[in-house]
Formats: sequence, structure tokens, C-alpha cells
Amino acid sequence: MDFNLTEEQKMIQQAARDFAQNELLPGVIERDEFSKFPTDQVKKMAELGFLGMMVDPKYGGSGMDNVSYVLVLSEIAKVDASSAVIMSVNNSLVCAGLEKYCTEEQKQKYLVPLAKGEILGAFCLSEPNAGSDATSQKTTAIDMGDHYLLNGTKNWITNGSTASTYIVMAQTDAEKGHKGINAFIVEKGWAGFEIGPKEKKMGIRGSDTHSLLFTNVKVPKENRIGEDGFGFHFAMEILNGGRIGIASQALGIATGAYELALKYSHVRESFGKEIFKHQAIAFKLVDMATQISAAKLLCLKAASEKDAGKDITQSGAMAKLFASQTAMDVTIEAVQIHGGNGYVAEYHVERMMRDAKITQIYEGTSEIQKIVISRTLTS
Ligand code: CAA
Repeated sequence: MDFNLTEEQKMIQQAARDFAQNELLPGVIERDEFSKFPTDQVKKMAELGFLGMMVDPKYGGSGMDNVSYVLVLSEIAKVDASSAVIMSVNNSLVCAGLEKYCTEEQKQKYLVPLAKGEILGAFCLSEPNAGSDATSQKTTAIDMGDHYLLNGTKNWITNGSTASTYIVMAQTDAEKGHKGINAFIVEKGWAGFEIGPKEKKMGIRGSDTHSLLFTNVKVPKENRIGEDGFGFHFAMEILNGGRIGIASQALGIATGAYELALKYSHVRESFGKEIFKHQAIAFKLVDMATQISAAKLLCLKAASEKDAGKDITQSGAMAKLFASQTAMDVTIEAVQIHGGNGYVAEYHVERMMRDAKITQIYEGTSEIQKIVISRTLTS
């Protein structure tokens, strides 16, 4: 196995690191405090080609590989997990799905501006009563001939108010269960499409999360993705890839918290020596570094497999399961190492601890990842 990065991968990683330090770090505490969307920073991410990283340049993307995506996303998340999820959803859940499964017309109309980062996208699967149990979609799309009539509510939608293009899963034939689910491209501003109130969240407070309400929204037939009844498979396939994005976000949060804790352990003194010299602290840092190293390998393995065109159902789920637990464990210990300072905003680690939690919940909870992985285990 080759653990070396190419020159191009190193360059893009450094570009992301510089961007995070210069553009994301200033103001990250305030954006968290006031739940402020990073509008200017997202524009710059678009200029750097980070919003359509793996999309073919002929559709406005950067044409990079998934390993580069892991490197960039984790550098962003090291500093600002909110910006990381905005980027992850646009790349993994929206652009990837449109590029792989849409018609040429759909790609020209929707993928190109999304991949260029001129607009943002959102992925709308979850509902008030269909989170983990995604087959229980209650949103309906009735076939009216040349269009569908969309009715229902979607919940916890990342980029909920800032997106312009929404991929919405809906039930077109309840009798067929998940085989009656379809995916549709819906535009902001269509009659009957209303954006609900912004959620007040524990973490990733810079990203905007909303419920969405659809009342008799007319969706043109040509905006259905794939064959009739393809929507659930579409959502599952897209989430398989999306999990690499969230795993990378979790890896970045963990790495950011670890680096701050390590630095702090060399400047803070107690009982006459820097706290790193206390084994109780050094051992915590050892565990954090070891977990991060394993999480990184799992993320890169899943990304390499995706680049090789392999099935990443198992490796993506394993990367997310392990990296999100790592993010939680590491950020809790980072706060502990910082002591009282860890509990106040200016030291960053308390925010990272709050940001980490969602990585165990969205794009499939840790329990769902275990279901997904268990189904891939063969003797
Ligand atoms: N990859 C590909 N196909 C899959 C799949 C996977 N990982 N998991 C299931 N499928 C397919 C099955 O093969 C089956 O297809 P067939 O009927 O053709 O054989 C079909 O999907 C139904 O599967 P199951 O019978 O296994 O369905 P289930 O109800 O028992 O379980 C589940 C399905 C895996 C639990 C699924 O509901 C699931 O993944 N739930 C989690 C949903 C989720 O991740 N939500 C996140 C919301 S998005 C989000 O968070 C976005 C954001 O803004 C950040």
C-alpha cells in the first residue's frame, strides 16, 4: 500500500491549510456564537474549486480525486467544522449524485453552477418521522402527467436556506414501499416551496439547518432523477459516498482539537513543569494521536477505494463510524487537557467538542453505520 501523497495532493492540502488559517480562523468564534453563515468564506471556497472537487472539469468541477477531497475537507474542518459540512453536502450529496445519475440536460442546468460553487445544493431525505428509518418517507409526489405534485416536510436540511437547488426524495407509490420512492431536483422559489425556521443547534452553528415545507409544488417530470422508483437506491448510493465526507469532517475536528491540546500542554505549567511532562496528560495525547492516525487511514482507504471504482459501502461506513467516535473522544480530552480554559470559547476546543457530536448523527447515525457494516460482513 502506498502511503505517499502525490505532489498535486500535497499542494492542494497546503492550499486548504492556508485558506483555513487565513480565511476561516478569523471570526470562527463569532460565527459560532451568532450562528452566522460563512458567506464570504464559501465564495472563496468556490474560487479555490472546493465546492465541486471531484466533478469533471467539463461540468465546472476541479476533477480531483477522493483522496484530495479527504485532505482538503479535513483541513477545513480542523478550523471550522461548519464550513466543512457546507462543502461536504455540496460535493458528496449533491454534485456526486447529479454527475453520476443525471441526464446531460440536468447536468448542464444544475450541476455546472453547483460544481462551480455559484450556487449551493441541499440533500433532502430526512423527515420529522423518517430519520434513520429512511424508507418511511411521508413526503408524496403524485404523478400528474407532465409534472409531479410534491407535498410534505423535510427536516434538518443542511444548506436549508442558502441552497438554490434541492434534491428531494418523495414517495410516488406508497404500495411499492421503498421501490416507490423517487428523487427530484427542486428549485428555490417555486410556488408552494417554503423554508421553515432555522434550527438552534448545539454545534456546527455556522451552517444553516432548516425544515422545508412543500405544498402542492409542481415539479416538472424532467426533474426526476433516473428511472421511476430509483430514488431510494439513489439516496443510499449517495450516502455511501457522503460518509467519506463526514468521516473527513470528523477527522479534521479531532486533529484540530488534538493539535491545540498538544500545543497547550507545552505552554501550560503545573506543579513546576509543563503539563505534557505529567504522564496523565502525555498518555491522553498518545491515545488521541493513535486514534486520529487510525481514523485517517480509514478515511484514506475509503477514498482510495472510491478512486479505484470499488464498492465503498463498508469502508465508507467504517470510516465514518470510527472517525466520528474519534472526534468525540479526542475533543472531550482536549477540553480536559485545557482545564478551565477548555470551557471558554477563545480556546476553541469547547466549540470543537460541540461540533463533533453531529458527526455521530447525520448522514446515518453510528448505529445505522453498524447496520450497514454488519450487512457487508461475510465469513
Ligand atoms: N447502499 C446501497 N443500497 C442499499 C444500502 C446501501 N448502503 N442500504 C440499503 N440499500 C438498498 C437495499 O439493497 C434494498 O434494495 P432492494 O430492495 O433493491 O434489494 C433497499 O436499499 C432497502 O434496503 P433495506 O431493506 O435494507 O431497508 P431497511 O429499511 O432495512 O434499512 C437503512 C435501510 C440502511 C437503515 C437506511 O434506511 C438508511 O441508510 N438509513 C439512514 C438514513 C441516513 O443516513 N440519513 C441521513 C440523512 S441525510 C443527511 O444527514 C444530510 C445532511 O444534511 C448532512
